[in-house]
Amino acid sequence: MRRLRTALCDRLGIDLPIVQAPVGSAAGPELVAAVSEAGGLGMLALTWQSPDQARHSIRRTRELTTRPFGANLVLDFPVDDLLTVCLEEKLPIISTFWGDPTPTHARIHQAGTLHLHTVGDVDEAVRAVNAGVDVVVAQGWEAGGHVRGSTTTMALVPAVVDAVDPVPVMAAGGIADGRGVAAALALGAQAAMLGTRFLAATEAATHEVYRQRLIAATSPDTVHTTCFDGGWPNAPHRALRNTTLQRWQAAGSPTAPLRPGEGDVVAVNASGKDHHRYEDLMPLPAMTGDLAAMALYAGQSVNLVHDVLPAPRHSRSGRRHHRPAAKPGVVTHAPSAVLFDVDGVLVNSYPAYRRIWSRWATLRHLDPDVVWSHTQASGRSTPSRWGQRVRLDSSPRGDPKEGVGLATQQRLCRRNARPCVKDPDVVRHRRLRSQGSISVLNTRMTWA
Ligand SMILES: Cc1cc2nc3c(=O)[nH]c(=O)nc-3n(C[C@H](O)[C@H](O)[C@H](O)COP(=O)(O)O)c2cc1C
Repeated sequence: MRRLRTALCDRLGIDLPIVQAPVGSAAGPELVAAVSEAGGLGMLALTWQSPDQARHSIRRTRELTTRPFGANLVLDFPVDDLLTVCLEEKLPIISTFWGDPTPTHARIHQAGTLHLHTVGDVDEAVRAVNAGVDVVVAQGWEAGGHVRGSTTTMALVPAVVDAVDPVPVMAAGGIADGRGVAAALALGAQAAMLGTRFLAATEAATHEVYRQRLIAATSPDTVHTTCFDGGWPNAPHRALRNTTLQRWQAAGSPTAPLRPGEGDVVAVNASGKDHHRYEDLMPLPAMTGDLAAMALYAGQSVNLVHDVLPAPRHSRSGRRHHRPAAKPGVVTHAPSAVLFDVDGVLVNSYPAYRRIWSRWATLRHLDPDVVWSHTQASGRSTPSRWGQRVRLDSSPRGDPKEGVGLATQQRLCRRNARPCVKDPDVVRHRRLRSQGSISVLNTRMTWA
């Protein structure tokens, strides 16, 4: 991966040319810090927060990482106060989107902060550079969330690179793995910005219903539309086709207030606030209601989203040189474990996982023959040798736990006369295994 380090990486202070897109409310401190910690660039999305909340988000992210991260502001909204907070908090990087960057740029530059601006076509890129922005983000039409232009990433990026040379360009839209990052660099971009892929990161503030929809979806399930315009009118976006979109399209895509189900409350948030059918909001954790009817933003790269993974797994794709091992006692992310159950005794013996683990451990100068397993129940980690039988304190009360196979869950539930909750991860895991694929459960590893 050293070869993939670009001049822009040096300028941003990051190891990898991978930037987590500011995916609205899903981009909270945990996601941002995880990406930055892994050597990429995390970006908070602050537009819809109050100045106090924004300050708290920035400070919380700083508690989680000492690495550089940035914040994003959408210029279609009043963001002056939020910009003041970002500058007072001395964020090194600000990104803007959807509007003329000139007025904000003056303030950003005066503070000595780096300014990224997202564009959807070549003319807008040239205008941004004339306004003084330091980095242009070229967003292709296949992108998830709000989509600025109508040209695809493949055609847009090289055209923008040529038009704004020598100003560095990032590519956004349709990129979800190392192949996409390499392609973006081949097109002349100096980094790739990934949004949809990170929506399914463990650390993203997305509701499980939304994540499962992302995992199940393919590119044709995404629609470039203006359907979810409550709160942000006249802003085309790409989202998954769901009941709201289907009913609206079937009715001939009428305008407000004539849309089917207009005014329906489809979800309620943790503070009891109602959310309506055509709002521009995605399902967030702790919401309840018909969450699948909300705006399920997703780009065409959803084709490549098959799993909920820790963010560093995405950021590290293709990375050969890793940073030193985490400090003892700190929870870090490793390839997830598959532990087979024999009457509540779990055996580390899955050969495919062993190969993944060995590679991962060797890169960190660890003993590849020892695996550390961490259970939610104990919060502790347990060392074991491959093939060794380890007793994990996973389920004394019969609750389904991370790291326990479906058979064990069902047996424990039967034994304790409790209903068996089918963890979607476990069900998916079983399906993939039956297809002969490598599947891993979402068990986290800790260092002892
Ligand atoms: C759920 C979601 C929310 C988004 N919110 C923002 C935002 O607040 N500000 C912004 O500049 N871009 C936003 N975007 C666009 C991303 O910055 C980026 O351009 C896009 O995700 C890249 O395409 P991809 O989703 O195919 O990776 C959002 C995208 C998604 C999927």
